Amino acid sequence: MRAALIPAAGSGTRLGQGPKAFVEVAGVSLLARSVAALAPLVDEVLVALPAGMDLPPGLPVRAVEGGATRQESVARLLAATRADVVLVHDAARPFLPGGVVRALLAAVAETGAATVALPVADTLVRGEGDLWAGGVPREGLWAVQTPQAFRRELLWRAHAAAQAEGVSATDDAGLVARLGVPVRLVPGDARLFKVTTPGDLALAGALARVWDAEAR
Ligand code: CTP
Ligand code: MG
Repeated sequence: MRAALIPAAGSGTRLGQGPKAFVEVAGVSLLARSVAALAPLVDEVLVALPAGMDLPPGLPVRAVEGGATRQESVARLLAATRADVVLVHDAARPFLPGGVVRALLAAVAETGAATVALPVADTLVRGEGDLWAGGVPREGLWAVQTPQAFRRELLWRAHAAAQAEGVSATDDAGLVARLGVPVRLVPGDARLFKVTTPGDLALAGALARVWDAEAR
């Protein structure tokens, strides 16, 4: 059995339009878009919502109350499922191609831990204030996206270890990698960008016109 776990309990501070999962792009919320992409490919969908927010009607999901951090929200989602494989996906990444999910599921069946990621294409540089302080070779570097998939027991162990050691991370693959477990990198997709700033929301609005017109 497979479950999709969607952390959607953030406050959307950088976007500045209230809790981000409820922000709409072309009339459909970021959360509803993520749910629509995942629901056909898993047995159940669980969503972590901000405290005091109700589940929008019509979504085929179970809701839990999120925590103070993304990591805490994922831990609560994990505690609420018995599925043997879990996919963790940010509500803030509304354009999730089905082919990416299928490739991720194939990878997790082989390795027990896998994340979608994009090879870095831009030149990278370290800054000191606003000054160029040295280039960073981009060879072998990937930008990590979601979804990420794990055998549930493995992600559970990773969260327990992180909590016991006071470690925090912005994603789950990093917590699993800390255990010394190999994490497979599955090529992601530029459309999987995280809606973080007002500029990202403008991009999302433009992409939605094409995305929503395609049969999927
Ligand atoms: N998230 C969560 N619980 C939290 C914080 C974040 O479930 N306590 C979720 C967000 O809802 C989002 C994902 O984690 O789907 C990635 O987080 P981010 O992009 O940082 O969203 P926000 O925390 O809402 O945005 P900001 O950091 O700008 O406030
Ligand atoms: Mg955040």
